[in-house]
Amino acid sequence: MYEFVRGPLVWIAFIAFIGGSIIKLFAMYRLADKEKSVLPTMSAKFGLRSVIRWAIPFASRNERLHPYMTIVSFAFHVCLLVTPLFVMGHAVLWQESWGISWPSLPPALADGMTLTVIICFFFLFLRRLTAPEVRNVNKPRDYLLSLLVVAPFVTGFIAHKQWLAPEPILILHIVTGALWLIAIPFTWLAHMIWFLFTRSYMGSEFGAVRNARDW
Ligand code: HEM
Ligand code: HEM
Repeated sequence: MYEFVRGPLVWIAFIAFIGGSIIKLFAMYRLADKEKSVLPTMSAKFGLRSVIRWAIPFASRNERLHPYMTIVSFAFHVCLLVTPLFVMGHAVLWQESWGISWPSLPPALADGMTLTVIICFFFLFLRRLTAPEVRNVNKPRDYLLSLLVVAPFVTGFIAHKQWLAPEPILILHIVTGALWLIAIPFTWLAHMIWFLFTRSYMGSEFGAVRNARDW
């Protein structure tokens, strides 16, 4: 079982993640091309200006109006994107499988960032369950997908701390990690891929057409 999840499953996950993202981007490009006003509106200057603005915490009015949500969301996303790339367990695997020497975070920092994801997730999940504006648009499968987002962090942390039997928890970690990657292009987690384009479009329309700001 371990051999399967550590080998073919990881391949399947990476191929689905990279291939799925390319296919989705291509499909989105064709859709945008059909809509005659979208591509001609795109402006590198205004698009980039908006992407940079929205990548800086508290740079938009909405973020200043909701400071707790802004802090939680930024901490969640930064740790969620950086930790898996630079956690020591993963660097070791890159080295073992491909001979690639990869930098890794000091273990205490990786633990802290993993816990940051888990704690911020708890806050976001609670909000999802209680705030009417989010709760009303949630279906049971959205809650399940939300739980999948945090699962590799919980299982990776437990594996690292060796709190439970190592092999089953590592298998669970790799299975949830693989599902995490596969889910990105095919579910609402694809907002990771769309962000650049939706933001660029909004920035372009507001900047170049309406002569206004979109933040
Ligand atoms: C799909 C392939 C994956 C494999 C083969 C894999 C494998 C591993 C291994 C071997 C460890 C080290 C455990 C230890 O120290 O004993 C680890 C830790 C970890 N993994 Fe993964 N992982 C995968 C995907 C992911 C994904 C997608 C995420 C997050 C989204 C993730 C997050 C983590 C974290 C946060 C830790 C360490 C926690 C800590 O040090 O506090 N992993 N992983
Ligand atoms: C560059 C990459 C990404 C960007 C720019 C981004 C941006 C956003 C934004 C703007 C929101 C709206 C609400 C908020 O501010 O929290 C959001 C929500 C969320 N994102 Fe991302 N995201 C990215 C990657 C990811 C990835 C890779 C995942 C997980 C696989 C993820 C998981 C989530 C979750 C779970 C929420 C919802 C929180 C809730 O329950 O309300 N994001 N993201």
